Amino acid sequence: MGALQDTDAIWGAMRARQSVDTQNADGFARMLAACLDLSIAWIDHADIYDDGAVEALHGQAVTRLTAGQRQALRLVTKCGVRFASAGQPGVRLHHYRADAAYIRHQAEASLKRLAAERIDLYLLHRPDYLMQAEETARALDALRAEGKIAAYGVSNFSVRQVENLAIRTAQPLAANQIELSPLHTAALDDGTIDQARARNMAILAWSPLGGSRLFDPQDAAGRRVHDTLTRLAGSYDINDIGALALAWVRRTGAIPILGTGRIERLESQVTGLRAAADMDVQDWYEVLEAARGQRVP
Ligand SMILES: NC(=O)c1ccc[n+]([C@@H]2O[C@H](COP(=O)([O-])OP(=O)(O)OC[C@H]3O[C@@H](n4cnc5c(N)ncnc54)[C@H](OP(=O)(O)O)[C@@H]3O)[C@@H](O)[C@H]2O)c1
Repeated sequence: MGALQDTDAIWGAMRARQSVDTQNADGFARMLAACLDLSIAWIDHADIYDDGAVEALHGQAVTRLTAGQRQALRLVTKCGVRFASAGQPGVRLHHYRADAAYIRHQAEASLKRLAAERIDLYLLHRPDYLMQAEETARALDALRAEGKIAAYGVSNFSVRQVENLAIRTAQPLAANQIELSPLHTAALDDGTIDQARARNMAILAWSPLGGSRLFDPQDAAGRRVHDTLTRLAGSYDINDIGALALAWVRRTGAIPILGTGRIERLESQVTGLRAAADMDVQDWYEVLEAARGQRVP
């Protein structure tokens, strides 16, 4: 279950400290073990999630796992987003960074917090408009040569921004992590998904349930999609509407990053996602139509 292209879901730890199931090291360890039991080895982090506290929680949790479980886990983490916070002294406003010294500093800090020897996939969290692509590429390649990261990629990069970096790195970019859900479908039209297919890059889909918009009765598009998924769920023998939305994301070839902090929900999402993995083409378009409020031309 090690390779990124073989996985059909990733667990995202961003909200872990807000959930009773995962807010402490014992619970977080139980979540990691549940992920592995479901053949989900890839865990998504970022240096900024609760100012590094989520990575640190992971670092504490893995001490509760067996050596085999620890070895099976695959780590994604990111750097590049900066904002004023206790963990980022001297930062006075939101900005992005992709210079070599910063990338190295952040990767080494993440490794320490995660209690890991290697980051399996290291992502630039957001495109730094001042990025010197050659310098950034060299920094990523150096970390890889030292074995501190196994692969690298980007997040929230446009097609052009991917090209600008990809032509300079020694290894292909392994992934672009982007927002993708029935409630956020821009990547279907702006070339992001086509580029990933052409370049053999993984698309990792963040907020695949719209960050819970799907369950917000005040959200008109969320309500339309929810109603449509509810109507379709029977033919896939699925009770968990979220799982069907995840299958919709997966049907594009993207790998959804599941943001739930509940172990039970993770299990039902993964089971349902797999049950509907071959979602019917017309069902898929019906969900798109509901999301956009109009049919494709
Ligand atoms: N690269 C980036 O810029 C970026 C940005 C944002 C996120 N991410 C990554 O993507 C991951 C997933 O994002 P996300 O957390 O926004 O994903 P999501 O799956 O769209 O949303 C998760 C939220 O939906 C709730 N939820 C799920 N099923 C529900 C249901 N049946 N009823 C009501 N609420 C439900 C969850 O609550 P429960 O916990 O109660 O299940 C949780 O609060 C993050 O963990 C992070 O790793 C990356």
